[in-house]
Amino acid sequence: MKKIALTGIKPTGILHIGNYFGAIKPALALAQEYDARYFIADYHALNTVKNAQELSANIREVAAGWLAAGLDPERVIFYRQSSIPETFELTALLTAFTSKGLMNRAHAYKAAVQDNLEKQDDPDAGINMGLFTYPILMAADILLFDSDLVPVGKDQVQHVEMAQDIAQSVNFTYKADILKVPQAAVQESVAVVPGLDGRKMSKSYGNAIPLFAPEKQLRKLILRIVTNSQGIEEPKDPETSQIFLLYRLFATAQEQEALAKRYREGGMGWGEAKEELFRVINRELSPLRTRFEEIMANPAALDATLARGADRARPIAAATVRRFRKAAGID
Ligand code: ADP
Ligand code: TRP
Repeated sequence: MKKIALTGIKPTGILHIGNYFGAIKPALALAQEYDARYFIADYHALNTVKNAQELSANIREVAAGWLAAGLDPERVIFYRQSSIPETFELTALLTAFTSKGLMNRAHAYKAAVQDNLEKQDDPDAGINMGLFTYPILMAADILLFDSDLVPVGKDQVQHVEMAQDIAQSVNFTYKADILKVPQAAVQESVAVVPGLDGRKMSKSYGNAIPLFAPEKQLRKLILRIVTNSQGIEEPKDPETSQIFLLYRLFATAQEQEALAKRYREGGMGWGEAKEELFRVINRELSPLRTRFEEIMANPAALDATLARGADRARPIAAATVRRFRKAAGID
């Protein structure tokens, strides 16, 4: 039997190029090899997105984004977290096996407390129980589907380790393998994609290149990339240029070599380097953009795709909950 890979995608904003290289592409590659179960973690997003229209739009856009990037919903079970009520039943069951101390140690919660302390505010100011119990909901997402491998960014590894702890605590209590203990998979080889200002590209820094930006906006954003004041004639170092770092992600080896040579020789200004960057990014993204627009133009079909995914996911989820309840004496 093939091993199972599962990951959740939080619909907290539009997708950008960093998400594409750091999360979407590696997860789609993994889906060739594993039985993949990928879902939109809309209940997790609710902790931070309280505007209903915004959340609802994000859910559709992020789902359409994955499909446009090549996710095959026949092959991958693709669904919304909120369509699987068993997730919330398992969450309730798991709370009884999760020590409060474990939650106190979660990085995201600790960082929020630290922030409050620095502002000399109440330690728990603005922290909802959704944030505090976030790792339990995430453990339920993972454990419900017998996941072997959980591809995530580095910041999420602690959460997967907590899912391991919680699963082990359940299995130890009932002296049986009720829940499969998952492993995190971090894509070490994917470099951090730089944003327009040179920092890590992130929606929270306002430095992101949206994955589906219309052509004109894409060009404008690329022309906005911050550069130093070196003149046209000066030789330039490709390795320290974020234009070049982005170029690498989209250009062929030959193109990279040719452009690196022009950097080193001098005679090429930043404006020209940006136009060349725009050309290769647009070449790769324009077919994705077209697919994205087609999918977004037919929300009923998109919703039906997600509903079909949920129909396939629910029996698997129900079997896990049944197994757990039986072991716990609640059958
Ligand atoms: P953001 O920082 O924009 O809020 P998220 O935290 O929602 O992005 O990230 C979702 C996924 O995309 C994670 O797996 C994360 O590792 C990946 N990712 C986000 N930004 C980048 C980046 N600049 N480079 C590489 N991967 C990224
Ligand atoms: N917490 C993850 C993030 O912020 C999203 C997520 C929710 C997830 N449930 C998951 C990831 C289960 C992997 C497995 O990116």
